Amino acid sequence: MSLINVDHVSKRFPLPDGKGEFTVLDDVSLTVRSGEVVALLGRSGSGKSTLLRIMSGLIRPSQGAVRSNGAPLRGANPNLAMVFQSFALLPWLTVQDNVELGLAARHVDRSERRERALKAIDIVGLDGFESAYPKELSGGMKQRVGFARAFVLEPEVLFMDEPFSALDVLTAENLRGEIDDLWNAGTFPSKSILIVTHNIEEAVYLADRVVILGSKPGRIRGELPIDLPRPHDRSLPRFKVLVDYIYAAMTNPDIEVSGVIDGGGPEPSTVRSTVSPFSRPLPHVRVGGISGLLELIVEKGEEIDDIPVLAERLQLSVDDLLPLLDAAAMLGFAQVANGDVRLTPVGRDFATTTILRSKDLFRQQAMVHIPVLNSIVHTLREKANGAMRSDFFMGIWDDYFPIEEAERQLATAVDWGRYGELFEYDASEGRLYLPS
Ligand SMILES: Nc1ncnc2c1ncn2[C@@H]1O[C@H](COP(=O)(O)OP(=O)(O)OP(=O)(O)O)[C@@H](O)[C@H]1O
Ligand SMILES: [Mg+2]
Repeated sequence: MSLINVDHVSKRFPLPDGKGEFTVLDDVSLTVRSGEVVALLGRSGSGKSTLLRIMSGLIRPSQGAVRSNGAPLRGANPNLAMVFQSFALLPWLTVQDNVELGLAARHVDRSERRERALKAIDIVGLDGFESAYPKELSGGMKQRVGFARAFVLEPEVLFMDEPFSALDVLTAENLRGEIDDLWNAGTFPSKSILIVTHNIEEAVYLADRVVILGSKPGRIRGELPIDLPRPHDRSLPRFKVLVDYIYAAMTNPDIEVSGVIDGGGPEPSTVRSTVSPFSRPLPHVRVGGISGLLELIVEKGEEIDDIPVLAERLQLSVDDLLPLLDAAAMLGFAQVANGDVRLTPVGRDFATTTILRSKDLFRQQAMVHIPVLNSIVHTLREKANGAMRSDFFMGIWDDYFPIEEAERQLATAVDWGRYGELFEYDASEGRLYLPS
């Protein structure tokens, strides 16, 4: 059943100099059906928020039509509620009054307002904070109020416009997980969710369907079903295949976004590649350097995703920074493209967790994403004593690199392998061996 239907909508705004108009949305069609979570992905300025405003009935399209429950939309759409990136709470009202506000506007009587607000506050875990003011709350708690204020209206469709992007990474991760749990448990207060984000992992994690909006002007490039069982498990190979596909599509406007993509079935370690794992060079950085960089990025906040700005803030040259970023990207801890860097959830986790767990995460990522380390471990496991002369591996690197570089590859592989407790190196005997 279609709850909201956008039919060939275009939106133009007048140019600031008064000379003509520019097109923000061009011939966009989109349907939100009952029972689904849809993610709308697009770069900054592609018109995502404008599309939400049109679907909410807050602004009118220049062309095309919007239907809500089959009827043409006139004025504000009563069947939906919105959660904003900026929380949009009224600072002079308590949590309780902020949550009740929308009900008051709908002339719900006082005792019912109170009861429904208490229930919504309870759902978002803010029990006991009813009489607090927004300034007394952390960012995560403020956004919980934002969710309660939307939930209390029991809208058919919940719109979320980058609801987690103003929160620190761990708070965002917690709240995202709780929203997903509520949805998966079937206790969610609305029939569908439409979330706007530019975080690809977030889209694949939460949504049943990802719609990709192209830029300038905003057009629907295509959509992708997220064919994973709920909750979507980030460690499944298929999850990564979907993220990688969308990532490639987002960084290359020429890629055609089709509904079906293959891959991600078998475990990565069983995939036989014709390219030697030893031919792809490891960047010469120490694991301590990678985790140091990721910690700094987390501390400095998500605002600095631009690599030159990041280099300046960290007082590093771009040349010093790039091998570290390369390594972080190879390991799946960060995504780097077009001069921007973004930590992945596992990258954030790696940067902020305990040493012990960071070793586990590193080992897991290295085995999946760094074929040469995977290959060394498998070779060692083939041996009864779990050990092998390093010359054996040097002989392979030799085929691809000059001798000094081959030696450096071994040294870097040993540093990474030791950190992840994948293997050990005995320099005096020139042997690599599995840890006992
Ligand atoms: N009322 C308006 N008048 C003129 N231009 C506008 C108006 N609203 C939005 N725009 C322009 O439309 C374009 C799309 O804006 P919109 O906020 O929808 O993008 P977005 O995809 O939500 O971006 P972001 O990811 O940064 O939030 C931008 O170039 C913006 O400047
Ligand atoms: Mg926006």
